Amino acid sequence: MAVNELFERWLPLIERKLEMLIKAENRKYENARNAAAYSLLSGGKRIRPVLMLEFYRVCGGREDISSFAAAIEMIHTYSLIHDDLPCMDNDDMRRGKPSCHKAFGEATALLAGDALLTQAFSAAAGTENIPAERIVKAINVLSEKAGLEGMIGGQVMDLAFENICPETSEILEMYIKKTSCLLEASAMCGCILAGADSVHVKAAEKYAEKLGLAFQIRDDILDCTADEKMLGKPVGSDEKNGKTTFVTLYGLESAQREAEQLSAEALQQLEIFGEEAEMLKELTEYLLDRKY
Ligand code: IPE
Ligand code: IPE
Ligand code: MG
Ligand code: MG
Ligand code: MG
Repeated sequence: MAVNELFERWLPLIERKLEMLIKAENRKYENARNAAAYSLLSGGKRIRPVLMLEFYRVCGGREDISSFAAAIEMIHTYSLIHDDLPCMDNDDMRRGKPSCHKAFGEATALLAGDALLTQAFSAAAGTENIPAERIVKAINVLSEKAGLEGMIGGQVMDLAFENICPETSEILEMYIKKTSCLLEASAMCGCILAGADSVHVKAAEKYAEKLGLAFQIRDDILDCTADEKMLGKPVGSDEKNGKTTFVTLYGLESAQREAEQLSAEALQQLEIFGEEAEMLKELTEYLLDRKY
């Protein structure tokens, strides 16, 4: 199955780079460093760095941009550490282990998240053999998509919507911000680092917006239906926190149909990337039926 090939192609590179970046150069600040490494090296799916590396390859890039790809995974991992905190979703499990604050305490988890976010920008800036103007452009996209106008804004909306019933359009906006934005950054930065033109960068952004919506709807479905061991995080978290999701609004079947529709719209955006985008298509389809 082609999607396995995609993961086999990129995962060893990603895991090696993440380990290298978080490795202690000295024994100072051990608590926060260990906490960051604990969450970062605990086996997430690595969808975001895989997307970045594959878009880069599809756009003709042939250098090693794993340092930039690691940056997006560090930002994603920080967002998960903070998302699990008692003041946010208050979830005790993540990636099959006690969540960061359960293992290290709240203050250390907070600082581990801060450290990952900050170090991500140094990893991105340290990408070698790519023209500086491409790196600057990509870092700008990364910071905007991760920031208040992006992922953080989505998390703000997510909290504001607890225990109220927002409109479908507001839920969609919140999903785009909290989930699509980091996927958009992944796809766009891959294109930008390869020197792709603005039409391709825009298509990558639109693709990832649709993919992210489908991905979050699937996440909401799994929150109600998954096997907790397999999922690696608590089932029923959304209900516990009074979240309105596509599942509470439309039911499981309609939610999955909506995810299918969005996934099909995502696939359309891949057309201009030609035959090379075959693996991206496989990945899009695979994520629609993922079990964790
Ligand atoms: C979880 O993301 C958070 C959402 C945006 C739904 P992933 O499902 O990619 O989590 P990991 O990285 O595989 O743990
Ligand atoms: C994830 O949304 C959003 C983030 C930006 C971290 P959820 O809160 O649904 O993610 P999980 O289910 O905890 O992974
Ligand atoms: Mg959340
Ligand atoms: Mg959560
Ligand atoms: Mg969830």
